[in-house]
Amino acid sequence: MNAIAIDGFSSTGKSSVAKILAQRLGYLYVDTGAMYRAVALHALRNGWVGPDGSSVNAAAAEALRSGAGTLDIRWRWEASGQQHTLLNGEDVEAQIRTMEISQIVSKVSAVPEVRRALVAQQQKLGTDSPGVVMDGRDIGTVVFPEAKLKIFMTARPDVRAARRFAEMEAKGSTDGLSVQDIAANLAQRDAEDQARLDSPLLKAQDALVLDNSDLTFDQAVEQAYTWARERGFATAQPH
Ligand code: DC
Repeated sequence: MNAIAIDGFSSTGKSSVAKILAQRLGYLYVDTGAMYRAVALHALRNGWVGPDGSSVNAAAAEALRSGAGTLDIRWRWEASGQQHTLLNGEDVEAQIRTMEISQIVSKVSAVPEVRRALVAQQQKLGTDSPGVVMDGRDIGTVVFPEAKLKIFMTARPDVRAARRFAEMEAKGSTDGLSVQDIAANLAQRDAEDQARLDSPLLKAQDALVLDNSDLTFDQAVEQAYTWARERGFATAQPH
């Protein structure tokens, strides 16, 4: 198992760094946040959770617990590097990035059965591929505790909120939200991700901290790539 684990807070640029690092090494990239978001979307569509993310009733809670393991989540990639998350074959990339989903995903991802189902899928993706860069919250602690390189990404909250806002503005998807609204959502997700009982967001003891508050994107990628080479990760041969 040839895995690089990248964990950290929301909107620290984990996914962007992980994606480019995977490209440079010729490895598979897996965005586990997209998997939890897809489950959250499925739960919302089926009325298993309300708009606040909590289970509607006991039957809905049960449907969510047993339903997560039955979903087919995969990705399609454009030549430009743009990722499309497919849920049972449907492209849900845009739907899973909305504020509505951001507001409920931490609650859905706190359900132990949801985590167990997705962790099993993530481990399989790792063992099936010659090399993987996976980003999330529990990759170094739970999914791949044996990974030879674990990176914990962080950045100051104001920097993260400003970046996320700029990203949404560029896509024209701010929906009237202010940078303060975004900061509040990030703070709430940080708190929920760290407080949940099942595999909370936690820096693995042996993780290297990458604080990119004052780094350019390229500098952050370069640091991650340098660590990967130092730890013996070799570029996968195309086959
Ligand atoms: O990385 P992201 O913001 O797209 O992740 C969305 C949510 O999914 C995040 O609030 C916490 C949850 N998550 C998780 O619990 N475990 C992971 N490995 C990845 C994401």
